[in-house]
Amino acid sequence: MDAKQELAARHEAVQRDPEGYWLQEARRLDWDSFPTKADRSSFDQADFGIRWFEDGELNVSVNCLDRHLDTSGDRTAIVFEGDEPGEGYSLSYRQVYEETCRFANALKQCGVGKGDRVAIYMPMIPEAAFAMMACARIGAIHSVVFGGFSPDSLADRIQDCGAKLLVTADEGVRGGKRIPLKANADKALAKAPCEAVIMVRRTGGEVNFVEGRDRWWHDLRASVPAECLPERMNAEDPLFILYTSGSTGKPKGVMHTTGGYLLWVAATFDMLFGAKEDDVFWCTADVGWVTGHSYVVYGPLANGATTVMFDGVPSYPDFGRFWETSNRLGVTIFYTAPTAIRALMREGKDWVQRHDRSQLRLLGTVGEPINPEAWNWYHDVVGEGRCEIVDTWWQTETGGALIAPVPGVTKTKPGSATKPLPGVFPALVDNEGALLEGSTEGNLVLTQSWPGQMRGVWGDPNRFFQTYFTTYPGRYFTGDGCRRDEDDYYWITGRVDDVINVSGHRMGTAEVESALVAHPKVAEAAVVGMPHDVKGQGIYAFVTLNAGEPESEDLRQELRQFVRTEIGPIASPDAIQFASALPKTRSGKIMRRILRKIAEGESDKVGDTSTLAEPAVVEALIAGAVAG
Ligand code: WTA
Repeated sequence: MDAKQELAARHEAVQRDPEGYWLQEARRLDWDSFPTKADRSSFDQADFGIRWFEDGELNVSVNCLDRHLDTSGDRTAIVFEGDEPGEGYSLSYRQVYEETCRFANALKQCGVGKGDRVAIYMPMIPEAAFAMMACARIGAIHSVVFGGFSPDSLADRIQDCGAKLLVTADEGVRGGKRIPLKANADKALAKAPCEAVIMVRRTGGEVNFVEGRDRWWHDLRASVPAECLPERMNAEDPLFILYTSGSTGKPKGVMHTTGGYLLWVAATFDMLFGAKEDDVFWCTADVGWVTGHSYVVYGPLANGATTVMFDGVPSYPDFGRFWETSNRLGVTIFYTAPTAIRALMREGKDWVQRHDRSQLRLLGTVGEPINPEAWNWYHDVVGEGRCEIVDTWWQTETGGALIAPVPGVTKTKPGSATKPLPGVFPALVDNEGALLEGSTEGNLVLTQSWPGQMRGVWGDPNRFFQTYFTTYPGRYFTGDGCRRDEDDYYWITGRVDDVINVSGHRMGTAEVESALVAHPKVAEAAVVGMPHDVKGQGIYAFVTLNAGEPESEDLRQELRQFVRTEIGPIASPDAIQFASALPKTRSGKIMRRILRKIAEGESDKVGDTSTLAEPAVVEALIAGAVAG
């Protein structure tokens, strides 16, 4: 069978006999007890629940490490590339196995056991992957918190998941600048204490050390064996919690479990990137995001591939970094975000062309819609027209890619993630939930479960169903708008809810608003997305100050800084407009539709304002619109 026939056969098999197909797919993994059932999920309120392979038992770290040792123990598992070019080293599967076992023993020594939560607030160093897989080995549940988040954001997450232990480092280094991870962690722990802290030495910088609570990783490491018996886990035991922003309230703890998640990332990594023995795969995402979980750590390692962990930024020491490093490390498959492509495109092709890229064979993108101009530049300039572009659409909630082209089979179109992978059943519905047929545009839903689907919101059992399954009953609502063309290709148009996608990172408008109103001078705030050339979307904030408070440029800066401190730099507003009043309905609801149009520079399209309590407010807002 060639690749085209194989893909067609998969699509056919999963439709005809889903149980048989998935039990066959499950053989990609090593099980302690092979499942007898595949899908036992339901999207209906009466018997709602997502369950896959529910009587199977396995261990994720065994699947990522132990099972490769016999045949490929000496193969490189992780290539670490630090912030300074060439600052790095490679680790074989055997080495990663031993380090993970040591880390697992260290966790146990600190009192962590099956079902306990472990927060991980780390740079992009191999120890982050050891810590994740060490949790998986002993059945603890990890929650990785992006190292760019503020102490407050870290504290919220530690508290919400009830982490017993925090893994962190003395400092991070990005783009030549040091990030005080331990100092941030200390601030967070003052609000949300953990029993223990394991600290990795990254820079050797000065840090505070709390006796009785803090342990150095290198001390622990020296005192524990390099073998650790894996815990036998049920397929539906939680593997990790990862916080992500939604339309309302605080970020929610998206929970993924053991069997279905691992199968999904293993299968999609194989289908989309098909890394062979001499491939080197580089996904530039941070492990603080789902892309880092699925395609830096679990997907590649489950396949025995070589994965790069990069602890730097695309612009340091110069804009050629990705290509210089790809060439030096022999990277053959490269996976990044459209925002990075747009930022580099702006700097010109010279930065790309001064480095040999002949070893690259596949180029992937993820995180936000890629505009055809950036797609073409990636394809023509970076890939010299030779590499296929794999545009993968997915979400934290989906575990791994759902809509994406299979290289060598799916014909690509610039800007489209193309078609669903086998076992993925997307549909478009109108605002009332009616199914739309043929070439059309609507809200993207999924009509059936897939193994990598999230299982719940940590600590809030009803929120999962409420958030995703009540808008269009019986269907999972993605929050994305989407167009389907005459060839049945899917074109994601962006979020249709109150989530903004800033440089491929999700921000909830409600989160930024609550940070702004926490400032003593702010009475009210409304936040919407605005178009941004590099970031895709920027953050536009309408701010009403307390009566008598003067507006000023200094205050604008102060508010930006305030949001950075409250949430993190990625939440800093790109534009702040002071507004004496916000447009509200007579019942007091803010009319975001109008604010969005103003932020998008389309104030001529604000539409009907007659239902507003005070229609004149809109004219004042239009007159005061600011450029991002
Ligand atoms: C957007 C990241 C268009 C989308 C893996 C989704 C995309 C949100 C694509 C999830 C893509 C992700 N084309 N849009 N290829 N990939 N998105 O949870 O709006 O950080 O809902 O997961 O990113 O973001 P998240």
